[in-house]
Amino acid sequence: SKGISSSGQKKPEGFTVIGSVSDLDKNGYLQTKEVALVRNPTNPKQLIAVNPKCTHQGCDVKWAAGEKKYACPCHGASFDANGAVLNGPATKPLTAYQAKIVGTQVLVKV
Ligand code: FES
Repeated sequence: SKGISSSGQKKPEGFTVIGSVSDLDKNGYLQTKEVALVRNPTNPKQLIAVNPKCTHQGCDVKWAAGEKKYACPCHGASFDANGAVLNGPATKPLTAYQAKIVGTQVLVKV
C-alpha cells in the first residue's frame, strides 16, 4: 500500500504533509522551515505555498495577516501571497510550490 496512509487517504507522489487544514484556518497560515502557506486572499479555495527564505539575503519572511503579505524582518522587503515582490530590497520573487488539501491535511510539493 505504498502512498496510502493509515487513514486510507492517498498521498500524491512527491507531496509532503506540512500541517492540518484546521491549523491553517485557525492561524491563517502554515509555516515550516521550508514552506509558508496561506489561502489565496482573492480565492480562499486556492492554496498558495512559497519558500519563506527571503530572496534578498535569506532571512525567513513572516506572514502579516492584516496586510495580507509576507514581511522580511531583516531589511524590510515584502512579498504578496504569491511571493511577488511588493517592496525591496529584494528583487526576485519567493520560490512557489504546488499545494493541495487531502482530507484534513495540507500537502506541499517541495
Ligand atoms: Fe529579507 Fe534582506 S534578507 S530584506
